[in-house]
Amino acid sequence: MADEVRTRFDLQPDQIPSAWFNLMPDIVQAGMEPLPPLSPQTREPIGPDDLAPLFPMSLIGQEVSTEQWIDIPGEVIDIYRLWRPSPLFRATRLERALDTPARIYFKYEGVSPAGSHKPNTAVPQAFYNREAGIRRIATETGAGQWGSAMAMACSFFGLECTVYMVKASYEQKPYRRIFIETFGGEVLPSPSERTNSGKAILAEHPDSTGSLGIAISEAVEDAATHADTNYSLGSVLGHVLLHQSIIGLEAQQQMEMAGERPDVIVGCVGGGSNYAGIAYPFMAGKLRGETPDLRFVATEPAACPTLTKGTFAYDFGDTAQIAPIVPMYTLGHDFVPAPVHAGGLRYHGDSPSLSLLVKHGYMEAAAYTQNQIFEAARQFATTQGIVPAPEPSHAIKGAIDEALAAKEAGEERVILFNLCGHGHFDMQAYDDFLNGRLPEVEFDVADEEAALVNLPEVPIDV
Ligand SMILES: Cc1ncc(COP(=O)(O)O)c(C=O)c1O
Repeated sequence: MADEVRTRFDLQPDQIPSAWFNLMPDIVQAGMEPLPPLSPQTREPIGPDDLAPLFPMSLIGQEVSTEQWIDIPGEVIDIYRLWRPSPLFRATRLERALDTPARIYFKYEGVSPAGSHKPNTAVPQAFYNREAGIRRIATETGAGQWGSAMAMACSFFGLECTVYMVKASYEQKPYRRIFIETFGGEVLPSPSERTNSGKAILAEHPDSTGSLGIAISEAVEDAATHADTNYSLGSVLGHVLLHQSIIGLEAQQQMEMAGERPDVIVGCVGGGSNYAGIAYPFMAGKLRGETPDLRFVATEPAACPTLTKGTFAYDFGDTAQIAPIVPMYTLGHDFVPAPVHAGGLRYHGDSPSLSLLVKHGYMEAAAYTQNQIFEAARQFATTQGIVPAPEPSHAIKGAIDEALAAKEAGEERVILFNLCGHGHFDMQAYDDFLNGRLPEVEFDVADEEAALVNLPEVPIDV
């Protein structure tokens, strides 16, 4: 009898990592200089005290930490056990459909209660805020995945949760709104009348479909103007990427179980957290010179091509210029991406550390249109049985392209990608795709040029 090919690699509950992994020491060691965030008012570097109106000191400490490992609190690990360790699969049926010599592995984060990787950071963020005596969290959500995760985490720790939901998603994904409300969260379509930032946008653009940049402004303003309320962000920031490192730490153990070393690691990038989560523990090997040939491919929508068409510059994290100015790839904080279904990838910027890795050539990037990624999603669903969210469908498309390139080259490559969420709340998007109603949204360089005019004038040298 032929050897059976193993397609699923599970860790035991006691193999959940007990510490998160911080890549910053390796980034510095490799000679890359992380630039400081700047105050939106003074344009001077900001310190921990400047962030105190928004975040608890424990998270600020993690944001600036130079420690390689940071212990995960026991209470957080207990909640992680609801869905962690998450499984790693080999996609043999997809491999056969592609007739490729490549072996494709994927880590599946859609097993979390909220359906994506987002609870990996929502839970510790709610934990540290509860420890600091905070009563309410204000946050934003793009696709609704982050809002779902944060509302769930807040309900675990007895916190109230206000979610500013990008209006395009609020209208496209009513079930995400109801999911958040089920956990007791309050959901407002953004731009809203609740904040000055929202009112200002509505005055100028009454039909605004919103953007993550606008929703962030609203949530930050809400938190900054209420003493009992903190702000929480589901991506971009260092502590968010840190919490997501649990994905890659588990994946490393699972790839070892499979007896494989990846040749290329693919993920989708909105602000960078799920991709950094799977990639950074492996990236350490590349930065240390142990795995110099390991490739990293970040994927993004052609309608919001931050890494492939953006500029590396200091820019505001939000539209109303309330959030800190950070060094990153950006399309300009005024850039409002077309309302593509991958709502979680509609952000004008990206994480500073991930941007730095792209800038220095340690990471590549690729952009795809809506129909390309839904075609990949359909091929994945019909072969592997999981209906993916539109966001990780970019990663699937990237992985398929890598597998086809391996076929072309006649090479057995090992591909690992992060399937960061299921698409069970994205049926409208699938309906549009299946019925040929998805516009092939093109990126308009003129819009970016208009938005880049408003970049803060801060010189950058890396
Ligand atoms: C399912 C899903 N994937 C990806 C993202 C993008 O965020 P990040 O790049 O931080 O993983 C989001 C953000 O909302 C999301 O909901």
